[in-house]
Amino acid sequence: MPEAKILVVYFSRTGTTRLLASVLARMLAADLEEICDCSDREGPSGYLRSLADAIRRRPVEIVPAGLSVSKYDLVVIGSPVWASSVSAPVRSYLIENRAQLPHVAFFCSFGGRGADKALREMGELAGKPAVASCKVKAAAAHEDAHAALAAFVGGLKRHLARSSELAWMC
Ligand SMILES: Cc1cc2nc3c(=O)[nH]c(=O)nc-3n(C[C@H](O)[C@H](O)[C@H](O)COP(=O)(O)O)c2cc1C
Repeated sequence: MPEAKILVVYFSRTGTTRLLASVLARMLAADLEEICDCSDREGPSGYLRSLADAIRRRPVEIVPAGLSVSKYDLVVIGSPVWASSVSAPVRSYLIENRAQLPHVAFFCSFGGRGADKALREMGELAGKPAVASCKVKAAAAHEDAHAALAAFVGGLKRHLARSSELAWMC
């Protein structure tokens, strides 16, 4: 059986979601892509812009994705939590790629609250439920990203094994 093709795609403003995404990509032997947006999100004005984008739930301009989601069996999408919502660049990515998405899984990094709501929102924007999802507090990500992601990766591997068994039987 050929190995499942997996893409890990993420946006990160300050590096925490990037750290989780790169560890995940290694653990899953997946391709990795960063979502780049066209807004200045540096410093206090960038923070306020990000907060306003999240509160208004408005999509923002992002750099077109380099990797096509339709070429993958599973796309794992990561976002920081902004105002108990998905970050604006990930909102845009989900809207732009919704029609082509295969199976999806979501993860988010956050400070302390709002992660469940953000993960729910990601499912609504993708138009399909996640095969698995994971929320990781920023502090835990920096302490031991590998440990914080272990159960999530286990769930994804079990899902992939089940899918491959079903494909083999058909
Ligand atoms: C505009 C903005 C809003 C945020 N809102 C929340 C929030 O509602 N709840 C929370 O737990 N953390 C919140 N955070 C903290 C981030 O989710 C957290 O620091 C995350 O790990 C940052 O990920 P990154 O380094 O990949 O950008 C917010 C951060 C920003 C920039």
